[in-house]
Amino acid sequence: MSEADLLTVDKLEVVYHRAVTAIQGISLKVARGQIVAVLGTNGAGKSTTLRAISGFLGIDDARVTDGTIVFDGRRIENRPPNEITRLGIALVPERDKVFPNLTVTENLAAPFASSGPGEDAIYGIFPRLADLRGRTAGLLSGGERQMLAIASALMCDPQLLLVDELSLGLAPVAVEDLMQRLLQIRNDLGITILIVEQSAAAALQIAEYGYVLENGRVVLDGDAERLRNHDDIREFYLGQSLNRERRSYRDVKQYRRSRRWYG
Ligand SMILES: Nc1ncnc2c1ncn2[C@@H]1O[C@H](COP(=O)(O)OP(=O)(O)OP(=O)(O)O)[C@@H](O)[C@H]1O
Ligand SMILES: [Mg+2]
Repeated sequence: MSEADLLTVDKLEVVYHRAVTAIQGISLKVARGQIVAVLGTNGAGKSTTLRAISGFLGIDDARVTDGTIVFDGRRIENRPPNEITRLGIALVPERDKVFPNLTVTENLAAPFASSGPGEDAIYGIFPRLADLRGRTAGLLSGGERQMLAIASALMCDPQLLLVDELSLGLAPVAVEDLMQRLLQIRNDLGITILIVEQSAAAALQIAEYGYVLENGRVVLDGDAERLRNHDDIREFYLGQSLNRERRSYRDVKQYRRSRRWYG
């Protein structure tokens, strides 16, 4: 692990209910100040990876059964989520992101952090939330709710922000706006970001590096630029039909195996 790496996941294995292996040897790295994307289709293991890093595995009766997670020089696999949050990792989860019965201000007051960017800095990034301060969170639009979820996570004063599937159910223009906010959070607040997305196009816009998961394994990784131009990504994740004889999904997988993308 190099000094620059804030997070190193090595050969991680996660099992649900002592029976279902959701992740089978995932390795990935996030350098300080980087935005890294984890891409993949339904059930690939994206959320499980973020849950393992943030410690929110126990509530789903899952465990890290092999491999290591090192954050800022410390081993954190199977540590409780409150401890991991205190070390500097905040998760914007896939579901149940905000307290629907509390107002925007009350949601932001809920996290425990005593330091952190503070409400003003957060309203600077999300001016829309300042306008909606007194609104009950359950009445916010999907995009506004995502803003509030990110804002709440920032109140925990993280060094590393984990974001699960921001684009879900939102119009492209709202997704674009949220991605730009994440970029601003990295640039202005210096927070490192690991983002999970089915929408490769959205995530690769702001990420510097990406990993593609399939069936709980990393099948491809590289600089965002390389992934954006990679034929498999363009065809299967960006939905662009290429000017060549269309290969079947299985052919692509065999090709990958033959090239040993992952070892
Ligand atoms: N609570 C759970 N109990 C048992 N198995 C689970 C649980 N959550 C996820 N899994 C299984 O783990 C695997 C990975 O799921 P995960 O939710 O991590 O995928 P994902 O990439 O986030 O998918 P999506 O894009 O649909 O959110 C799947 O096979 C899934 O069925
Ligand atoms: Mg998921």
